[in-house]
Amino acid sequence: MNFAHTNAASDASPAVVYPDVIALLSADHRKAEALFAQYEQTKESITPHQKFELAKKVCGELLIHMAIEEGIFYPAVRRAIRDDELMEEAQDEHESAKQLIIQLGEIQPDDPLFDSKIASLADQIDHHVQDEESVMFPKVLVSDVDLIELGKELLEAKNNMRTRLGLPVEQVADEDFSQRSFYFAEASHSAESGMGQR
Ligand SMILES: [Fe+2]
Ligand SMILES: [Fe+2]
Repeated sequence: MNFAHTNAASDASPAVVYPDVIALLSADHRKAEALFAQYEQTKESITPHQKFELAKKVCGELLIHMAIEEGIFYPAVRRAIRDDELMEEAQDEHESAKQLIIQLGEIQPDDPLFDSKIASLADQIDHHVQDEESVMFPKVLVSDVDLIELGKELLEAKNNMRTRLGLPVEQVADEDFSQRSFYFAEASHSAESGMGQR
């Protein structure tokens, strides 16, 4: 199976490898985990302002991620895998994370509650990511969803949103893909061997 689409127009231009949708979303998950870990590791030594900036960054990334999942990925998956219960659970988990993000916005970063809200958000996201990667994604991998087309669509929507918010757009290059394809192979194996089935 070929998981990547390369548009190498000529030898002179660098090849762009578009991510399949699973690779794109998984990369977002790793990014959020890294930001939460950074917060946890530095919270005792950074200023309230730095805490606020870090929290703003992770919440912004999560909101963009949830928006593209809800707007494009979940509807496509819902049609393809026909598991409404799973999709509603995922949507509920998003709503709960959004509530925590709203609550976080009402607390000053020098309030001890700020750290505990971030920790709760990290826990909730961790649980949600595990559900997606171990249950939902394996089902998507064996469905008839066009992973590359959907990946392109999500990347475009994500970059439109990032541009509107003044954030740098994301480019995907060969080296990124080679790292992600390992997860993809693992997930395919899980799906085919019946692991991750509900
Ligand atoms: Fe996700
Ligand atoms: Fe999600």
